[in-house]
Amino acid sequence: MRKKIVAGNWKMNKTYEEALSLVSEIDHMVRDEVNGEVTVIVTPPFPYLQPVGKLVQGNSKMHLAAQNVSEHESGAFTGEVSAAMLQSVGTEYVLVGHSERRMYHHEDAQTLYKKMKMALAQGLKPIFCCGEPLEERDADRHFEFVGQQLHDSLSYLSNEEFDQVVVAYEPIWAIGTGRTASSQQAQEMHAYIREQLARLFDAEAAFNTSILYGGSCNPGNAQELFAQPDVDGGLIGGASLKSRDFVAIIKSF
Ligand code: PGA
Repeated sequence: MRKKIVAGNWKMNKTYEEALSLVSEIDHMVRDEVNGEVTVIVTPPFPYLQPVGKLVQGNSKMHLAAQNVSEHESGAFTGEVSAAMLQSVGTEYVLVGHSERRMYHHEDAQTLYKKMKMALAQGLKPIFCCGEPLEERDADRHFEFVGQQLHDSLSYLSNEEFDQVVVAYEPIWAIGTGRTASSQQAQEMHAYIREQLARLFDAEAAFNTSILYGGSCNPGNAQELFAQPDVDGGLIGGASLKSRDFVAIIKSF
């Protein structure tokens, strides 16, 4: 059965001290208040990965993710961080293809495919992000657009590799805007994504893949979104920076 996952993407926020207090608050609240089976992922900036990872190590519900990974294996790539480095400091998951990386760092489908391969080769589980800009939604091309993103970066993976992948649907018009997709919009896209994954891999793999919703998810709308049959949790930006809000979202299943 697929996992329920809530992942907090801290983006480029928090000093070291702030990051440590945020994660210890989350850790305590998750221990005290979260009963059901849920995978909680925290995604701090690179310099805090190891200390944040150490803090959550003893909590079986909590897991560590990185926000990015290099498409190269090692060598003269100043400023880049490799999959092996992430793995060596205890990282378990990694975001690949967040729309901010696609937009501001010009990461194309081919680059994302290479990142997926690098991550998988080191035993990291990629959280592959997809989602359409507003123009595509307005022109009623959102399904086609997302289908293409999935095809272009995932279709060359083997079934065994794909088993390790989590997908996050994040409509760009909903990220950081306070404008959330309705639960119906989320459900129909998640069902479509699952259908595409069944075509690219097989029905069982598609059924077992966790598909997360992201984009202005908060304690007020998480419950309705997570109640949809094909929404298996959330990728949370802004609301993951406040422990109380983040834990309220975790408790929304
Ligand atoms: P948001 O970001 O929750 O602040 O909209 C989501 C994301 O970019 O992962």
